[in-house]
Amino acid sequence: MKKYELTVVTNDGVTYKIPARSDESILVAVERAGIKAPSKCRSGECDWCRSKLVSGEIYTPEPTERRRQYDRIAGYIHPCCSFPCSDCRIVIGCEGETREA
Ligand code: FES
Repeated sequence: MKKYELTVVTNDGVTYKIPARSDESILVAVERAGIKAPSKCRSGECDWCRSKLVSGEIYTPEPTERRRQYDRIAGYIHPCCSFPCSDCRIVIGCEGETREA
């Protein structure tokens, strides 16, 4: 298990720096830090948690990899089933794409 730092930008433009573990999803790290983040299925199916990965590397286990091809290319992730492999910068929620690219 490795530890990383996540920089999380919320829809209202607030930026947080929080710890994350390689063996827990990004959504769990965000929630543990007390940051409100959208989620429903928590298994990669509903797209509700769709967020922008601005920088960094993540891993998504194949059984939960259900992103559209466009999202994979454009850097959108499902934090509920994405695990950090480096420090990352993430804009939480779909509206984040208009705030920071
Ligand atoms: S909560 Fe459903 S895809 Fe993440």
